[in-house]
Amino acid sequence: MANERRCSVRLLVFGASLREGSMNDRLATLGASVAEEKGATVERATMSQFECPAYDTDVEISTGLPAGAQALHDKLQSVDGFMIASPEYNASMSGVLKNTIDWVSRFRPQPFNGKQGFLMAASPSMTGGKIGLWALRQPLEHLGARTYPDMFALAQAHRAFDDAGRIADAKLQNWFETTIECFIDLVEASKHYPHLKKQWVEFLGERPDEETTRVELGETAAV
Ligand SMILES: Cc1cc2nc3c(=O)[nH]c(=O)nc-3n(C[C@H](O)[C@H](O)[C@H](O)COP(=O)(O)O)c2cc1C
Repeated sequence: MANERRCSVRLLVFGASLREGSMNDRLATLGASVAEEKGATVERATMSQFECPAYDTDVEISTGLPAGAQALHDKLQSVDGFMIASPEYNASMSGVLKNTIDWVSRFRPQPFNGKQGFLMAASPSMTGGKIGLWALRQPLEHLGARTYPDMFALAQAHRAFDDAGRIADAKLQNWFETTIECFIDLVEASKHYPHLKKQWVEFLGERPDEETTRVELGETAAV
């Protein structure tokens, strides 16, 4: 879709590694720039902004939700969708990210609910971290996020970027750009075209209502 015809789409983009020089953070930077080229407004963040103590119900009761969880909650509230580049550890998702997701799931309304998400990974391995992304889908979809079917895993990431921060393999860079553009098309459709709204994902009995729905209904009846 041509950018001049794009309706407003706001995306939160972050890499889920805490490491200086993280390859996932580099991939998030590239994803953010592609999303902007394709007409989205990007809120860029880092995992360090969302770091939380290990989840403990006693801590939640005594001191409430931590600042890192509050920060991710607030950013999710202000966007239409998110793009996460998450490392794979031992064939699963990042524990740091899962811990923050667990904390964020305690907010009401729960901010992942109904948000569109695109998942990416970068790893020196030949699988690029794809297995970890399958694990990451589970809590996100459980929380009502609509996770884009195509996921991007950058294999041998330590030598995959060129000096400009793009993916050196032109075909792969093109696939990356096309996939992100299609994801943004979907976010735009879900936000602006209510006839495409899917059945709200049920989470702890939540139903679409005036407070929680973010679809602009205009004159069309709610689905
Ligand atoms: C404890 C540990 C487990 C890892 N397990 C995997 C794995 O299962 N699959 C994989 O592709 N890479 C694995 N890696 C390699 C990471 O993908 C690699 O360290 C990567 O650079 C981490 O992402 P970052 O560069 O964004 O920090 C593992 C690394 C560590 C430290």
